[in-house]
Amino acid sequence: MKSDSSQPPIQASTVIRNIGQLVTVAQQPIAGATGVLRVLSDAAIAVHDGVIAWIGPNDHVEPVFQHDSDSDSDDDGITIVDAQGVLITPGFVDSHTHLVFAGDRAEEFHLRRAGISYGELLTQGRGILTTVNATRSADTEILTEMAITRLNTMRHYGTTTVEAKTGYGLDMITEEACLRILNNLNALETSPSYEYSRVRVVPTFLGAHVVPPEYRERRSAYVDLIVEEMLPSFVGLARFCDVFCEREAFTVEECRRILTQAKELGYSLKIHADQLSPSGGAKLAAELGSTSADHLDYADDADLDRLRDAGVVATLLPGCSYSLRSPYPSARRFIDRGLYVALATDFNPGTSYCENMQMMLNLAMSSMGMSIEESLQAATINGARALALHEVIGSIEVGKRCELAFWSIRDYHEIGYHFGINLTQSVLIA
Ligand code: NIG
Ligand code: FE
Repeated sequence: MKSDSSQPPIQASTVIRNIGQLVTVAQQPIAGATGVLRVLSDAAIAVHDGVIAWIGPNDHVEPVFQHDSDSDSDDDGITIVDAQGVLITPGFVDSHTHLVFAGDRAEEFHLRRAGISYGELLTQGRGILTTVNATRSADTEILTEMAITRLNTMRHYGTTTVEAKTGYGLDMITEEACLRILNNLNALETSPSYEYSRVRVVPTFLGAHVVPPEYRERRSAYVDLIVEEMLPSFVGLARFCDVFCEREAFTVEECRRILTQAKELGYSLKIHADQLSPSGGAKLAAELGSTSADHLDYADDADLDRLRDAGVVATLLPGCSYSLRSPYPSARRFIDRGLYVALATDFNPGTSYCENMQMMLNLAMSSMGMSIEESLQAATINGARALALHEVIGSIEVGKRCELAFWSIRDYHEIGYHFGINLTQSVLIA
């Protein structure tokens, strides 16, 4: 590296050179830029201990990079990554997935094409309960291997952080097993049968997904089980507690009871709100200071104002509208009212069997009225905000973790325009 002794040395273990276009995003709107998006041509990034230490022009006077003695590096002590002129953005933060489950629901998908609704299937004891049966009878190793395969697919499409919910166990043993699988994924560097690379997993406990069959006639006993046994036992295993607030699942009162107890125990909150009907979930999210409210297809303007005023992130999940053939929520309504909008896959076997965040950006642009800039923001920094991790990840800024998507394109305007193929090349999680 070129030396300039007049500047203080910056410690770096890795320098990423020759970035054709760098879309940095940011936590706050930047003066003179499109919202939070800043676009730099011919840029470079220096990284130290996994954290971004410097961002600047590729050919500008460089700071003096001081060697990191314990890095595995080339001759001058710094690993140089040549980006070969491609686009780099923050890695996607997929802030809503149901990662751990067994079985599939292809049959129900095609029954829905024939006109049976998702709600009807759920009332018949199918839907989520089909997956609960399959998950309860699968062993931990199989569930882990399937989760790893899915994470690798997500990473292949540019995702570097994944929130993952339980909710297909619905008993002490299986819910705990699923939470342990999620926690172990974070500790895992390699597995015997799968290549695996450090996608961050944020575990969420969703015991209140639906009432399990053995409690059908005594649902309040199931709520008691969640409040009195599951929540206290799972402290430390899940960062968030989520509930499905819906006529086929849990009432506002039941959700309030569960979430209030969760909050007291130190969990942060999420709510599946107003997805299939105006359930009151958004209002509850604002009342309890939930980190995010997700779906919101039936939320009205007063709900949106409450969410905005309470600082609740609105997470929109277009994969569900695609799969359920229901109207897409109008993201413009949310953005124009000043809410933080996040986009996520809602990866699950029922309503959105899709690991690919690029697909969500495409749907947001084609069917929800979002621009490419809004979509990128929603899939990165706002996803991080929906996980209360916006000070750590979700943008390319000095001091943040270096978690990047390398694209095979040179200009971010190609995203959405060239569709149906994978435009990301790889991710770098430093
Ligand atoms: O986010 N709505 C509830 N939960 C999921 C669907 C889960 C499933 O159908 O298996 C959702 O859409
Ligand atoms: Fe969901």
